[in-house]
Amino acid sequence: MNPAPDGNDGSDMTGRRPMDPNMHTPDRTEPSMGAASLLQVEDLHVTIQAMEALRGLSIRMASGSMVGLIGRNGAGKTTLMRTVMGHLKPARGRIVFEGRDLAAAPTHARAAFGIGYMPEDRQLVPQLTVEENILLPIWVSKSLQARPRLDFVYGVMPELAEMRERKALLLSGGQQKLVALGRALAVGTRLLLLDEPFEGVAPALSQRLSEVIGGLRGTALGVVITQSDLNHSRTLFDHEYVIERGASGPARNAA
Ligand SMILES: Nc1ncnc2c1ncn2[C@@H]1O[C@H](COP(=O)(O)OP(=O)(O)OP(=O)(O)O)[C@@H](O)[C@H]1O
Ligand SMILES: [Mg+2]
Repeated sequence: MNPAPDGNDGSDMTGRRPMDPNMHTPDRTEPSMGAASLLQVEDLHVTIQAMEALRGLSIRMASGSMVGLIGRNGAGKTTLMRTVMGHLKPARGRIVFEGRDLAAAPTHARAAFGIGYMPEDRQLVPQLTVEENILLPIWVSKSLQARPRLDFVYGVMPELAEMRERKALLLSGGQQKLVALGRALAVGTRLLLLDEPFEGVAPALSQRLSEVIGGLRGTALGVVITQSDLNHSRTLFDHEYVIERGASGPARNAA
């Protein structure tokens, strides 16, 4: 029902800023979702070791929007992202991505769907180079071509091109965050899930991360960014969701 997810021909560009040739508009023929719906999380329940980490969380985001998911430590932000990525199975509820039931899709399908993930703890392979780390999800996707995707990532983040031959283990924590963002961008042609991207990063690199993420505004790429309550940057978001003890908190409009 859905078109091939790779979009290497770039033929369905929208009138938005033409940033990424792999970006797609959603499939407008999908019956059950509004045309602009990108991700819909409905009454999601996830249990980890007999504890309900998510207890009925619901979120809806439009294509091309930038959404903040704000919650304290242990609120369930990472659990949500890991569940969307297929690393955790929902006990109840639905995750719909561009009309697809994500829970029914195998974990490795996310890269081919155009979903990129920047985990909280980066999860780079230390012995691999920066470039090899960026290439990993492209290899998994089987549908994206490495060269154009690398060119895109290096175009957005030229500093990664400069460090492409360095092993990940030789990088600072902040540099590793940049690589993890680049790796998410390599496959995230429709949706980026960024788990606390600014957490524990020195101010200069945090500023740079903010610049790169802010630069994605106005494109067809939807972005979810988690942050803890304190000290979060609200200016990036079109909309904020508050998550409290695994459930949806009070609605809040972004600044
Ligand atoms: N591997 C695990 N084993 C046991 N409990 C877990 C595990 N992962 C998460 N939890 C629990 O699930 C709940 C949600 O955790 P989660 O990591 O999703 O929160 P978070 O909002 O990302 O927090 P943080 O701001 O600290 O990253 C917490 O109570 C946490 O203790
Ligand atoms: Mg977390």
